[in-house]
Amino acid sequence: MANDYHIPVLAREAIEALDIRTDGMYIDATLGGGGYSEMILMYSPSIKLYGFDTDPQAIGYASKKLEKFSDRFKIIAENFSDLRDALAKEHVKQISGIVYDLGVSSRQLDTTSIGLSYRFDAPLDMRLDPRLARSAMDIIATTTADELKHIFGMYGEEPMSGRIARWIVEARQVKPIKTTHELAAIVTQGIREDKKNSTLSRIFQALRIEVNDELGSLRSSLEQALELLEVGGRIVVVSYHSLEDRIVKDFFASYANPKVVEGSLESLRQSIDEKKARLRLITKKPIVPSDEEVSRNPRARSAKMRVAEKK
Ligand SMILES: C[S@@+](CC[C@H](N)C(=O)[O-])C[C@H]1O[C@@H](n2cnc3c(N)ncnc32)[C@H](O)[C@@H]1O
Repeated sequence: MANDYHIPVLAREAIEALDIRTDGMYIDATLGGGGYSEMILMYSPSIKLYGFDTDPQAIGYASKKLEKFSDRFKIIAENFSDLRDALAKEHVKQISGIVYDLGVSSRQLDTTSIGLSYRFDAPLDMRLDPRLARSAMDIIATTTADELKHIFGMYGEEPMSGRIARWIVEARQVKPIKTTHELAAIVTQGIREDKKNSTLSRIFQALRIEVNDELGSLRSSLEQALELLEVGGRIVVVSYHSLEDRIVKDFFASYANPKVVEGSLESLRQSIDEKKARLRLITKKPIVPSDEEVSRNPRARSAKMRVAEKK
């Protein structure tokens, strides 16, 4: 199958970083078009793999693409924040490694059905998992101006978050905001022409993160992954924006360099207790795609990969 669904980003680097054990049990936390999964499964005929995704389109596509591996590959249609429980149902208590390729696939961005992109007019939905209770439309319709400001500022790092939140609240009093283009028109009403696209990217990213609780899910899943990993097993994370990367960086640092507080009340000191470390950093600085990869696949440009190993 050609890569018409999604061109995997940093794929060779991510699979190498997993340092695969040929008879291991691996997790692809973000199955998508199955690009990473296929490479892991092809690495050795005795590898077992579970792939997580909640998007029915991704699940449908990947299950066909990876059909030939069905004796040692299974899709789990759950959020990766349910890692522990979902694997327990499969009687899996330990894993050899896990890879996350965060965010959304090219297919999800280019599809008009769930309204992730302001470039296509679509219902304002944004749920990667259709079972989620709250869509972007619900948030835009019911959230206070203060909360909207917080969402745009925190998850979109949007400098005009307060003003944009007010415009939305004013507009929804006149008429419900139901589509991506309706929202885009309101968000950009007072924005300079050359800044419109970057503002829209930030606002749409912020809403997507809020709808899908992307940062909370990541934090929780990393904690569970660490518990499930065997010694020497690796966590590999490819992220696409600074908020995700910060979570991964801080999580790895907190277990690779655990801090202890010492001294008396008058002179408290923090030092690192090597003996308590549960992770070893494999990447001190994140790995980024080559210029060649970015020119071939512009969506790779913001990718950053971090890797750690269980001690
Ligand atoms: C960038 S794509 C992965 C592409 C994949 N590595 C490949 O080679 O085709 C990310 C995928 O992860 C899924 N995803 C995002 N957040 C998720 C979560 N919390 N739990 C499960 N799947 C998630 C998305 O639905 C999407 O299909």
